[in-house]
Amino acid sequence: MASTTTTTIALVLATLLAFTTSGARAQPLAPAPTPAPLNLTAVLEKGGQYNTLIRLLRATQVEQQINSQLNNSFNGLTVFAPTDNAFNTLKAGTLNSLSQQQQVALVLYHVLPRYYSLSTFQTTSNPVRTQASGSNGGVYTINVTSTPSQANVSTGVVDTPISNTLKSDFPLAVYSVDRVLLPYELFGAKPPAPAPAPEKEKPGKSDRSPTADGPSAAVGLKGRGAGWSFVVGVVWVMGIIGSLL
Ligand SMILES: *[C@@H]1O[C@H](CO)[C@@H](O)[C@H](O)[C@H]1NC(C)=O
Ligand SMILES: *[C@@H]1O[C@H](CO)[C@@H](O)[C@H](O)[C@H]1NC(C)=O
Ligand SMILES: *[C@@H]1O[C@H](CO)[C@@H](O)[C@H](O)[C@H]1NC(C)=O
Ligand SMILES: *[C@@H]1O[C@H](CO)[C@@H](O)[C@H](O)[C@H]1NC(C)=O
Repeated sequence: MASTTTTTIALVLATLLAFTTSGARAQPLAPAPTPAPLNLTAVLEKGGQYNTLIRLLRATQVEQQINSQLNNSFNGLTVFAPTDNAFNTLKAGTLNSLSQQQQVALVLYHVLPRYYSLSTFQTTSNPVRTQASGSNGGVYTINVTSTPSQANVSTGVVDTPISNTLKSDFPLAVYSVDRVLLPYELFGAKPPAPAPAPEKEKPGKSDRSPTADGPSAAVGLKGRGAGWSFVVGVVWVMGIIGSLL
């Protein structure tokens, strides 16, 4: 009687054990064939306060670029994610004042072409390359200063701490920042930008008509802008020559 009970209990236990073990063995096999693709948007959505950034990533089509880079990159990526509040505190019209190409650059400025954990930032030398570059191909950079527990990002216009880690798991690191990282190349103090090329399609309207005050004033400003670029260019070239001597 007692031995029958013992046998029954032993059988039940053995059966349970068999089920448990086979279940445990089956589990790791199931998800293996389909590793979920890394998805920056999903990380940001989970964070709950990055809707403006998500919208910008979509509008500029940087979203696809990043997700496919994540899929193919051996170096991984690091993304600085400004909060919705960070975008709200920008001066009104800041985003709209940018051309489409500059908006793309602004978004890419928040992406580094490597995975950086907070500790790797400590051994990284400044300046750090971002994914953004200007129309002349010059790569935009940031500076990062860090201690084991804290890191600051500086653009030359904005200096802000990394306030939170949303994800830090190779190949993707996503860090929350409370300010939009404004590239010096787009927002720094600088002489009049040489970007708007002087209009050449109206050769008839020359500055030889000083009576027309409106247009000639505009031409005058443009002339001054060109003068500045020339001066800056000469100083720059002289600097290079100087450094060669
Ligand atoms: C990434 O996640 C977003 C939001 O969850 C989703 O809309 C999108 O389809 C996902 N993309 C890929 C490639 O899985
Ligand atoms: C990731 O890469 C694999 C192979 O290179 C490709 O088949 C797949 O479509 C890619 N997935 C995404 C989301 O780009
Ligand atoms: C980051 O910036 C804050 C405030 O500007 C400063 O107090 C802190 O020491 C800086 N930390 C590092 C690691 O540079
Ligand atoms: C970034 O760091 C480099 C090297 O230390 C320095 O020359 C440069 O002035 C720094 N730029 C900014 C914006 O802090």
